[in-house]
Formats: sequence, structure tokens, C-alpha cells
Amino acid sequence: MAAAIKLLTVVGARPQIIKAAAISRAIANGFAGRISETILHTGQHYDDNMSDVFFRELGIPAADVQLNAGSGGHGAQTARMIDGIEAQLLKNRPDVVLLYGDTNSTLAGAVAAAKLHVPVAHVEAGLRSWNKAMPEEINRITCDHCSTWLFCPTETAVKNLEREGMVHHGMAKPNINAPSVHMNGDVMFDNSMHFAERAGKKSSVLRDQGLAQNGFALATIHRDHNTDVREHLNAIFQALLSLSDKHQLNIVLPVHPRLRKCMNANLDPGLGAAVDGSKRMHLIPPVGFLDMIELERNARLVLTDSGGVQKEAFFFNKPCVILRPETEWVELVEHRQAVLAGADAIRINEAADHFLASGVPACPPLFGDGSAAQRVCDVLVKDLG
Ligand code: UD1
Ligand code: UDP
Repeated sequence: MAAAIKLLTVVGARPQIIKAAAISRAIANGFAGRISETILHTGQHYDDNMSDVFFRELGIPAADVQLNAGSGGHGAQTARMIDGIEAQLLKNRPDVVLLYGDTNSTLAGAVAAAKLHVPVAHVEAGLRSWNKAMPEEINRITCDHCSTWLFCPTETAVKNLEREGMVHHGMAKPNINAPSVHMNGDVMFDNSMHFAERAGKKSSVLRDQGLAQNGFALATIHRDHNTDVREHLNAIFQALLSLSDKHQLNIVLPVHPRLRKCMNANLDPGLGAAVDGSKRMHLIPPVGFLDMIELERNARLVLTDSGGVQKEAFFFNKPCVILRPETEWVELVEHRQAVLAGADAIRINEAADHFLASGVPACPPLFGDGSAAQRVCDVLVKDLG
């Protein structure tokens, strides 16, 4: 029997840890002797409720390597990660490095691996906002162009890669200059389906917050374009407050650490006091994934600038107001499951009013069939085994 493929998974930020659960589960369930996974945590996210909670509750094996890169400017943070990942690659020479999404941890993994000629597999490849002012757009383009396997969650992502000349036909073995592109569905869909039942049994978040099924909206805010720009942050909070008053609606907002920091710096004191004083605004610390999907499953409406939360709203058939001017998940907008409202208080109110009155229309599945992670493993075993 062939030796197991040595796979190095790099995670660092919250959504990557959650995504890694799907692949680790697929390896344990079907590829145990064929793929040997080592997990490297860059330490980009480090608070217990941004990192360790997900390892504990999603059954992800503990990280084998911890870089403790921590927070900082893009350059300093990414440099620490590249340095640490490179050292690990030189030490252990994996057959493939698996990277998720578009964070600085993704960028660091891509640059370190490509320069040492270690092939990269990118999960969530091909997504584009077409807005290079976003740090994530730079990260995802760079990672895609350093990759040997591009695992796309949607057909749109495949088309985006075609536009960039990334789709090659007739290659026996993919390589960094002629990568292989696969439409395999979204590992976040795998996870949401897998953990939804457990969330229903284990999570007490609705009771803890005094929330009724379909009696509240769920909001998340963490993009720098919203948190760091005073005008945008104030407009979003004004919109949330007015919605909660107008519709007598509880709004649950698990507060990302970037938002916590920026609320102190950027929220007008009067507005901050009104948010604090409102009985309907539930600002809570970040929650674990089971609590999060329990909130998503039971919300009437989701308002978010998160990539992951936009999709999860759709998985649970909930309307979504996207607090961004554009999205990588264009299918959601095309199928009228979500509306782009930016950080504009009027547009946020209009979109929310519409969805609270009408809900979302029926829609076919858009993100695969729940076995995206297994497909990733199948391809790697076929090409490397
Ligand atoms: C990062 C990603 C973003 C992703 C998000 C997911 C980049 C450039 N951005 O944004 O794409 O959507 O993660 O959540 O990679 N902090 C803490 N505790 C932590 C982590 C962060 O207090 O455990 C604070 C620090 O003050 C830090 C700030 O949050 O400076 C921002 O963290 P950082 O990882 O740089 O970016 P995110 O905004 O989390
Ligand atoms: N999430 C969570 N707890 C929270 C907020 C979000 O578990 O308090 C999960 C959410 O369900 C999704 C992922 O974190 O799976 C999204 O991460 P985030 O919004 O931080 O980043 P993005 O997806 O925008 O990169």
C-alpha cells in the first residue's frame, strides 16, 4: 500500500478553523490510511472564543504546530506567519499544503509554500469581489495563483478562474503553472448540515438570551471597511437601532474583537449610549459554532458583512441584508436571497423591511450537496496517492 499523503493544513482565523473541521472529518471517515494530516495554527486569532472553542466543539484534532503570530499590521503579522510556515515546511516537507479562504494566514501559507515548491491546495478558490481595496481580494488572488489544486465552491468561482486563464485542459498531473480547477461545493455547507442537529440539542443560546424562534434578527460586523470607517460604523448602528424600534425586534450581535475595539474608538458617544440602553439590542461576546448556527436557524433575518454568515443564512433559508457594497457570493443576490445594502442606513432599512414582510423566494441548492470535503480528499488521493 502507498504511503499516506502528508497534508499540512494551515488555519489561523475563525472561519478557517471551522472549515478545517469538514476536511478533518472527511479524512477520519474515509481517508485515514491515505491522508496524514498535520495542522498548523498561525495564531492569527487567539481568544478562546475565536479559536479554541471551535477545536473543542467541532472535534478538530489539536493543532500540531502553533505559531502564535498574533495581531498586528498586515506586514508584520503576515511576515511572522511566512517565517513560521516556511520553517515548518523545511522541517517536514509535506506533499501538499491545504489553505482556506482569503485571510493573511492564507496569504502567508501560499507565499511560503510556493517559494519552496510545495504544492498548494486552495479551498474556496476563485472567489472575487472585484474590489482590490479589500485585503481579502489581494490574499485570495495571490493564493489562487500560487495553487496547484483550486477547489471552487460555486460555478461562478470556476468562471472567475477561467477569466484569469487558470483553467487548463488535458493536463495529466496538475502543477503550479497548470493547476487543476474543481467545482466541488462548499465545505461550509457540509459543516452546517452536519452540525445543525447537534446545535439544536446542545445550544442554549436562545434561552440564555430570552429569544423566541423567529422573534429576532442576527447581525455580525467585522469588515475593516465597516468597523474602521467612522461614518460607516455609525450608519450601521443607526440602522440596527431604528429597525429594532420600528419592528419591535430583538437584534443579537455577537461582537467580533475588531468591532469591539472600533466601537470604542469610532461610535458616536450618543449612539453608543442608545445601543447600550436598548433592551432589544443584545450585544454578546463571539459565540461558538453550535450557538451560531442555532441563532441562524431561528432568526427572522440576518444582517452581516461576513462571508460565512451570508451563506449560512441561505443554508437555513433566512433572508440576508449584506452590509457591504459587493459580495463574492453573487448567487445569493441573483436569487433574491440577499440584498446588498452597504453601510447605508436607508438601504439597510429598506432591505430589512422588505424581507421582514416577504421572506425569501424558493431557491435551488447553490453550494453543492454536503460532500465538498470528501471531493477534495478524493482529488488529492487520485493526484498524489
Ligand atoms: C480576519 C481576516 C478576515 C476574516 C476575519 C474573520 C485578514 C486580513 N482578515 O479579520 O478576512 O473575515 O479574520 O473573522 O486576514 N483580535 C482579538 N482577538 C483575537 C483576534 C483578533 O482581540 O483572537 C483583535 C486584534 O485587536 C486585532 C483585530 O482583532 O488587531 C483584528 O484581527 P485580524 O486577525 O487582524 O483581522 P480580522 O478583522 O479578525
Ligand atoms: N461564527 C461563529 N461565532 C460568531 C460569529 C461567527 O461561530 O460569533 C462563525 C459563522 O457561523 C461562520 C464563521 O464564523 O461559520 C464566519 O466567520 P467570520 O464572520 O469571522 O469570517 P468570514 O466568513 O467573513 O471570513
